Amino acid sequence: MNILIVGGGGREHAVVKALKQNKKVEKIYALPGNGGIAREEGAECFPVKATDLDGIEAFAKSHKIDFAAITQDDPLVMGCVDRLEALGIPCFGPRADAAIIEGSKVYSKNLMKKYGIPTADSETFTDAEAAIAYLKTCAYPTVIKADGLAAGKGAVIVGSFDEAKATIDDVMVKKVFGASGDKVLVEEFLTGPEVSVLSFTDGNVIVPMVSSMDHKRAKDHDEGLNTGGMGTVAPNPYYTEEIAKECMEKIYLPTVAALNAEGRTFKGCIFFGLMLTAKGPKVIEYNCRFGDPETQVVLPLLESDLLEIMLAVREGRLNSDMVRFKEGAACCVIVASEGYPSHYETGYEISLPETKEGEYLYIAGAKAQEEKLLTSGGRVLGASAFGNTLQEAIGGAYALAEKVKFQNAYMRKDIGQKALQVQKQA
Ligand code: AMP
Ligand code: GLY
Repeated sequence: MNILIVGGGGREHAVVKALKQNKKVEKIYALPGNGGIAREEGAECFPVKATDLDGIEAFAKSHKIDFAAITQDDPLVMGCVDRLEALGIPCFGPRADAAIIEGSKVYSKNLMKKYGIPTADSETFTDAEAAIAYLKTCAYPTVIKADGLAAGKGAVIVGSFDEAKATIDDVMVKKVFGASGDKVLVEEFLTGPEVSVLSFTDGNVIVPMVSSMDHKRAKDHDEGLNTGGMGTVAPNPYYTEEIAKECMEKIYLPTVAALNAEGRTFKGCIFFGLMLTAKGPKVIEYNCRFGDPETQVVLPLLESDLLEIMLAVREGRLNSDMVRFKEGAACCVIVASEGYPSHYETGYEISLPETKEGEYLYIAGAKAQEEKLLTSGGRVLGASAFGNTLQEAIGGAYALAEKVKFQNAYMRKDIGQKALQVQKQA
């Protein structure tokens, strides 16, 4: 089979490595892919942007593609699956009408309210003055969210009215996130541990994957700016079997049913960003795709064949027996360019160590130049390791990450430490 993948991050490299395990896969084309995917035997990258739907369609027409996996948010929200399916190419990923659960936070919030799915209380505004008038009456901290995609930066926690006013000015007046700020949500500030749960659904059956924990801030002890994610561990020790059961009943099944009732059947991966509050688990956000860097710890634990699951999702024949995970744990440490997510330099040559079984180097912001691999982004790569225990996985990921060399390499030193403490207390 010839597979097309649309996206170019560490997540896509992890998906490519997992798909390659299937003997039926002959060729993988990645648009645009990255320097790590380009080095995979049987994989080839082409410089077509993930948001260039015309370019993707033209590529698909001129190559024999048997199946496509669309794993990045913006092409999904823009309707990449609709376009490829119209060409007769079966896809893994939701159509635009279902990808809206990530594309519009206002849509998702209304859906959750309508179907009684637990989430933070909120108000929606399309007008800056009305938002400001409401914010005068709020308790602080509170949360302001731009409606549309904002590269993961659309949620701002504000500690005072002055901060809130400045945020509304940025988002709704200055439009720092463009049209994504035409509408905003002002949301109740919740507290509690966060859990990421990726799940496969064929629109009928939903099968959650192993839970994970992201580390979003740039610096140790959750300090510094918000990033796309500086590391992950799986499973997440806060996510007990009892909580998983509650989430299935109150969140996962109702979400699939709600989307069906709205005529927006979702096929692909729904990512539930959850907060475990004193009043039970609540949805902080939905994403319409695998998480990054959650995928870099979830797929190393997947025992089943990813392509077979993706085909079953597309064909509406998913069942929970198809999705098995190994016992044990995984940790991913992101090695970034110093300064990320603000200013950083790129273009440095990367030296990579050999990997042993249970170790994975997932390349994100790096490009291939002849035989060399050069840094080209903020998050350069993820060093992931499997371990029989969480402690072993963390040790393995750090041992691997420390062998990666480039001039301005930076990593957090405490990925997984909170999870270890929780595990010890349990
Ligand atoms: P989002 O873009 O919706 O995923 O939000 C990004 C991050 O902001 C989340 O991972 C949380 O840490 C935080 N956050 C979002 N919504 C809330 C909320 N209602 N209360 C507290 N923190 C929140
Ligand atoms: N790690 C969070 C995300 O993929 O959105």
